Amino acid sequence: MKKRRKTIRPEAIALLAILLCTVVICLIIVIKKDPVSPMTDPTGESPVTGAQTSGQEAVPVITAPEEISVRAVTGGAWEQDDPQDLLALASAADETGKSYPVTLEGEYDLSKAGVYALSYVITDNHGSRIEKALRLTVLASPFAADGTLIDGEYITDNGHSLAIKGGLAYVDGYLLVNKSYSVPEGFSSTGDCTRSMVPEVMEAFQRMRNAAPASIRANITIRSGVRNIADQTVIFNNYVRNDGLENALTYSARPRYSEHHTGLAMDILTSSAEESKQPATAAVLDWLNKNAWKYGFIQRYPENKTEETGYIYEPWHYRYVGTELAEALYNNGDWITMETYFGVDSFYHTAYSS
Ligand code: DAL
Ligand code: ZN
Repeated sequence: MKKRRKTIRPEAIALLAILLCTVVICLIIVIKKDPVSPMTDPTGESPVTGAQTSGQEAVPVITAPEEISVRAVTGGAWEQDDPQDLLALASAADETGKSYPVTLEGEYDLSKAGVYALSYVITDNHGSRIEKALRLTVLASPFAADGTLIDGEYITDNGHSLAIKGGLAYVDGYLLVNKSYSVPEGFSSTGDCTRSMVPEVMEAFQRMRNAAPASIRANITIRSGVRNIADQTVIFNNYVRNDGLENALTYSARPRYSEHHTGLAMDILTSSAEESKQPATAAVLDWLNKNAWKYGFIQRYPENKTEETGYIYEPWHYRYVGTELAEALYNNGDWITMETYFGVDSFYHTAYSS
């Protein structure tokens, strides 16, 4: 039997194609107008976005430091800006602004050097504990309760090594004398109370002098070099008598607290603020300010650094530290003080008695 073959007429194919296109176009229009989104609220109210957390719990967050270093409390030995109230450093709140009481957990002893692992803790609305770790480092203090120095090895506030040996302070090996760090009773730089500077310092001073232009060279002279404790007592007491204790303390060291005891420091050409402003003197001080570092000398009490050094500007007072440290402290003309560089303070920890 012969099979009859069915044929589709071209007009029908064209009609079908038109119909299909029309359906697809309609679908696209509908989808664009009213997109189906999983976030669409079936009630027809405004859609919920991921940023809005209505119905979600507000999570409290503890704001507190993770690490603190403080100097051990041994009487008058708190650094001026050390935090004493660890709890006052922390707070906790959620995003609605509600605050939560913070407690501090863990054992620590501010009079004992060591590293203590502590935790700031809060309890959230459901009674769950939320904590934040605090690593507290209590650094040993070189100061006894009366402010005197205790021989030993220490770490400064910015991590340099501080050794107190025979009552003298050495930071990274450099002898340090300021309002905090004195020389011991009976100290003399040469051991026999003579007035000579340390020989290495005099050699560097001569090199510096020889390098200066002729007009300056003649004026690079030591106005005041080594002063023993008795000398400083006379000088300081004179200032106190004439200007009062408060003023004297801003520019003159108490006996045993002067760098002049060390044989490493000197006042060049002048020791007076008034004299330092006279043009010939100012020219010498200006040359020293720009060049002394090359020979290992630093301007010890730079301008606007009273908070750090404890003394007003003394453009004539130079201290020998060697060329390596001098270059670092010169800092292209913006002198860094020994106190800031080494992370040490300069204020009297001991009481004054005249
Ligand atoms: N004028 C300095 C600070 C001293 O007396 O040592
Ligand atoms: Zn001086």
